[in-house]
Amino acid sequence: MSAQIFPVPTEVASRALVDDAKYQEMYDRSVKDPDGFWGDHGKRIDWFKPYTKVKNVSYDPHNVSIKWYEDGTLNAAYNCIDRHLEKRGDQTAIIWEGDDPADDAKITYRDLHGHVCRLANVLKARGVKKGDRVCIYMPMIPEAAYAMLACARIGAVHSIVFGGFSPDALAGRIQDSDCVAVITSDEGLRGGKKVPLKANADEALANCPSVKTCVVVKRTGSAINWVDNRDIWYHEATEAASADCPCEEMNAEDPLFILYTSGSTGKPKGVLHTTGGYMVYASMTHEYVFDYHDGDVYWCTADVGWVTGHSYIVYGPLANGAISLMFEGVPSYPDASRFWQVCDKHQVNTFYTAPTAIRALMREGNAPVEKCKLDSLRLLGSVGEPINPEAWIWYYEVVGKKRCPIVDTWWQTETGGILITPLPGATALKPGSATRPFFGVQPEIVDGEGKVLDGATEGNLCISESWPGQMRTVYGDHERFVQTYFTTYPGKYFTGDGCRRDEDGYYWITGRVDDVINVSGHRMGTAEVESALVLHKDVAEAAVVGAPHDIKGQGIYAYVTLNVGVEPTDALKKELVQWVRHEIGPIASPDWLQWAPGLPKTRSGKIMRRILRKIAEDEFSNLGDTSTLADPGVVDNLIDQRQNRK
Ligand code: WT7
Repeated sequence: MSAQIFPVPTEVASRALVDDAKYQEMYDRSVKDPDGFWGDHGKRIDWFKPYTKVKNVSYDPHNVSIKWYEDGTLNAAYNCIDRHLEKRGDQTAIIWEGDDPADDAKITYRDLHGHVCRLANVLKARGVKKGDRVCIYMPMIPEAAYAMLACARIGAVHSIVFGGFSPDALAGRIQDSDCVAVITSDEGLRGGKKVPLKANADEALANCPSVKTCVVVKRTGSAINWVDNRDIWYHEATEAASADCPCEEMNAEDPLFILYTSGSTGKPKGVLHTTGGYMVYASMTHEYVFDYHDGDVYWCTADVGWVTGHSYIVYGPLANGAISLMFEGVPSYPDASRFWQVCDKHQVNTFYTAPTAIRALMREGNAPVEKCKLDSLRLLGSVGEPINPEAWIWYYEVVGKKRCPIVDTWWQTETGGILITPLPGATALKPGSATRPFFGVQPEIVDGEGKVLDGATEGNLCISESWPGQMRTVYGDHERFVQTYFTTYPGKYFTGDGCRRDEDGYYWITGRVDDVINVSGHRMGTAEVESALVLHKDVAEAAVVGAPHDIKGQGIYAYVTLNVGVEPTDALKKELVQWVRHEIGPIASPDWLQWAPGLPKTRSGKIMRRILRKIAEDEFSNLGDTSTLADPGVVDNLIDQRQNRK
């Protein structure tokens, strides 16, 4: 716990949209009169047909139904592009910074309009219609944003798959939502290394008969395989297409996108977001949390393959007519000064990144930061996992020069936008705390039985009322949506996170309370890694847990039981790590792999992960209740092995 408090700096307060009194007043109204509050703020978006209804939500487990602005119609691309053309057609919408520092580009709102309309027409010509699903598997190039907005323009539902995922992971996601088209590039470029996106897509598409079109952006120009009638070059097709493409009129509750995310069990879930509430919430949080003013240069370092890239590189900022920086590369290339050089080069005012990146850069010392001026920075942000106070202080002092507040923003793929966060002009900061709820958000801390706990306390984090950016369902599996989020604590949305509330009412997220691991701010289901491991011919059984990792926050710790007669060698360990990388992608690589002649199980056969977590943390004397173990000898054996390894 950190006792240190950082008040709002006067320069920040003087330009801020909201001070503490205004926050209190707006927050109070948002919870007392949600219809009035969200009815007013919904007008920040342009509607073709205005809504007359605001909120229509039931969290009843027998009938979970979430609707916002349900009789309004709009188009997300219109809100991100067309409505800005008159006033800021010539203003930069996207600053693109390539992997190579010599590569960059500025795309104005007018340019954006042309690119998006042409691609939208290409998709239409290939038969893509309103409601069809389109998979985007792209590097961080402007065409990724064009692809998202082109889908939105014609009412197609995009499903972005992060470029680091394997062909199998890509295929599974394409199949789950029956995508009719894929937009990809020949290769990606990250840290000077090429990523074979088209080759991966080819491998995936061999098992995806629903896909009729693959649009390929030429990024590196390397030779690629080509499938006639299915594959088309982006540059050829868009050049030939018209730059005039009217926006499809969408209902507020028509789907905007699907994004797959890991849960505690089973395959990744297709989180479905709809159009109206999502756009209101993404744009409103972007404006207030980042205290966005016209002309500010705003940089979120996420990848569009994650929800942060959706809400805070593309939809939120562009809906606000902002200047959004999009970065293709990695923080360490060409060297550990890259982030800071980019800040100076483009005069970045707001910089939003993840604790894992901050920790990795902190390890490089202060020199790479101090080479740069960083005098354009006014505000810093953090997202993805709890930020440890040591990293917070370094970020604040060395990067922000004690001038820039840090907004530690807590949210999830499911929430669509930020739910718990400081507001720069309103909230005194405590390092490591996401502080207070955004407007309309009503956090509750409950115990294991679902009893709501008052005052300073700790327990499981629920949200008692809906907010417009909330996910609406799991694509194709509403029952799973209800089961996952609305049955543990009936009548509330359960986040899966543990949380403490202090005496000032500040929230401190303590991490996942389910079998989800947060690796470098990315979610990994233990079940997914286990399923990948047991696919290997030598593996009989596997159990995966999260363990503390200096840079990643949590790393993946795998216990593996081999088939009888298989020799447990170091070579096999390496092979299994490679195997998981190949099955899921590099982000799922186990950081530790321990042989387990047996796994600790209850008499009914359930693996006791609690014990495996303790062993991975070297907390041997503190295993908790082991009385339900079927065979206590298994645990002694695992502890012995763990100790002997060191
Ligand atoms: C999980 C959601 C939200 C976009 C990136 C991750 C953890 C996220 C914070 C934060 C503490 C955080 C939670 C959450 N998390 N932000 N500021 N402080 N924990 O999205 O992949 O859906 O993961 O990330 O555990 O449940 P995601």
